[in-house]
Amino acid sequence: MSTLSEDPWPWKEPKTIGQRGAFIVIEGLDRAGKTTQVKRLCDKLYSQGHNIKTLRFPDRTSPIGKMIDSYLQSQTEMDDHVIHLLFSANRWEKAKWMEETLKKGCTIVCDRYYHSGMVYSAAKHNPNLSLDWARAPDVGLPKPDAVIFLDLEPEEAEKRGGYGDEKYEKKEMQQRVRELFYTFESDMKVVNAGESLEIVGDHILEKIEETLKDVLEGRSRVGKFEA
Ligand SMILES: Nc1ncnc2c1ncn2[C@@H]1O[C@H](COP(=O)(O)OP(=O)(O)OP(=O)(O)O)[C@@H](O)[C@H]1O
Ligand SMILES: [Mg+2]
Repeated sequence: MSTLSEDPWPWKEPKTIGQRGAFIVIEGLDRAGKTTQVKRLCDKLYSQGHNIKTLRFPDRTSPIGKMIDSYLQSQTEMDDHVIHLLFSANRWEKAKWMEETLKKGCTIVCDRYYHSGMVYSAAKHNPNLSLDWARAPDVGLPKPDAVIFLDLEPEEAEKRGGYGDEKYEKKEMQQRVRELFYTFESDMKVVNAGESLEIVGDHILEKIEETLKDVLEGRSRVGKFEA
């Protein structure tokens, strides 16, 4: 009988032994389709023979994640620096697991990561919280092999379901977040998230093809986010 907690991508014997997994991150604005595309990508890669694990940040299940959840739902107020450091700590909580999982040969597809962490904090226009300040606590985290940025006009995002419930889901904030994401354009592969689910999914696959090949053929090691 299947249960909700059952792993949709159970471990299977890998086709090649001793190969590490790839670390793929899907970034983007609120409602850009990240969660939808992470699942599609996991299904696709699993069907191609990859072992797959998925992650999402914030991970609201840990004690730190619960504090973040309460902040995002406007139940707790926090200084901008404090919440920023909690978001970063929430990623660090998973760092060792990520490294071990990749080493085992499992590919990780992750829903938001440190780019979100940096740009959402810097978008608050707090004069004491620059993008450089926001970057520092994440330095040293496992570096993704590829970051996909799902780009969507905030006006389009607003039309999608569920928008506006949480703290950052305001159009002006989203506009600033989008501009800041573009300062990292050289780190990311931009995909127009305004197309259909299928087209967006195909574009993501195209953009990560080279990366997957490099990783699976042993030409690339897991890096660390650098200062
Ligand atoms: N390409 C698309 N075209 C139209 N609607 C889409 C598309 N992709 C996702 N959606 C819809 O938009 C909504 C948001 O999608 P999803 O939850 O995947 O976005 P998200 O980026 O994970 O959002 P959040 O930032 O809130 O976690 C959902 O209702 C989803 O079905
Ligand atoms: Mg989501």
